[in-house]
Amino acid sequence: MQFDRRHILITGASGGIGSALARALATEKASLLLHGRNRNTLTALADECRQLGAREVQVCSADLATTEGRAVLIDHVQSSFSKLDTLINNAGISRFQVFEQQTPEQIEQLLTTNINAPILLTRALISPLLETAGESPVILNIGSAFGALGFPGYSTYCASKAAIRLFSEALAREFSDTPLRVQYLAPRATRTDINSDSTNAMLAATGSASDSPELVAQIALKLLRSGQAQMTIGWPEKLLVRLNGLRPEMISAVLNRQLGKIKPFAKHH
Ligand SMILES: NC(=O)c1ccc[n+]([C@@H]2O[C@H](COP(=O)([O-])OP(=O)(O)OC[C@H]3O[C@@H](n4cnc5c(N)ncnc54)[C@H](OP(=O)(O)O)[C@@H]3O)[C@@H](O)[C@H]2O)c1
Repeated sequence: MQFDRRHILITGASGGIGSALARALATEKASLLLHGRNRNTLTALADECRQLGAREVQVCSADLATTEGRAVLIDHVQSSFSKLDTLINNAGISRFQVFEQQTPEQIEQLLTTNINAPILLTRALISPLLETAGESPVILNIGSAFGALGFPGYSTYCASKAAIRLFSEALAREFSDTPLRVQYLAPRATRTDINSDSTNAMLAATGSASDSPELVAQIALKLLRSGQAQMTIGWPEKLLVRLNGLRPEMISAVLNRQLGKIKPFAKHH
């Protein structure tokens, strides 16, 4: 894949992984549409991307958890960024909290942001993607290792990322007789603001590794170049995800032993 010919929309570009992706793609001279909610952060990132070598950089701020916000982004793509050939669904939120303490409003916000928003955005942009002349269209969905591994304290988040994993898999198979490629990347814990203090404390207590957003961005570029359908980042996560598919009771035994180190951090007082 030659990124200097690509016109790429990154949702959640104002965040940790999104901004690292934007910088990495800017260095490869891609044309970028940077989306997020925080316009100031997006404007500063756009300046940085231009200096790094991006061919063209546009920004769009919109709340993807609302119909109106999604319409703003869709309209921007259609009216100002007409040559979209790569959609990176990266925007997302997380919640590390025992299930009975999550409010219905928090659950709805998470499911809307992590499932409805990327699926409905993809639906709205699939025709422009398929009709774009030139580069073969690509959709890259950013999931999580927790999309294939139920983890205590992350029930709603795991559900949302599992939905996106299967959405990506089904869509990739549905479009396999077209030039459209659908890919899915599952990072493990990554050092960004999405992780609360209690999450970071739990990661430390359980001895879990975490990656820099820059590493995740480099792996995402590698995945895009490879054309491979799915990738999970990190050991032992790659192994745990596979084992969980084959022998979930083994992973349950491991997590049950660690529950005493996980649950106290997931209880907010
Ligand atoms: N960090 C990790 O440990 C980790 C691990 C696995 C997977 N992931 C996934 O990686 C993706 C990026 O996460 P991150 O770590 O970079 O988190 P982050 O730094 O918190 O960034 C999240 C991004 O999503 C945007 N966003 C959130 N809600 C939105 C909404 N309603 N409308 C529009 N934009 C919204 C944020 O926009 P504003 O900041 O402008 O509001 C921000 O740009 C997410 O899908 C996440 O689930 C992260």
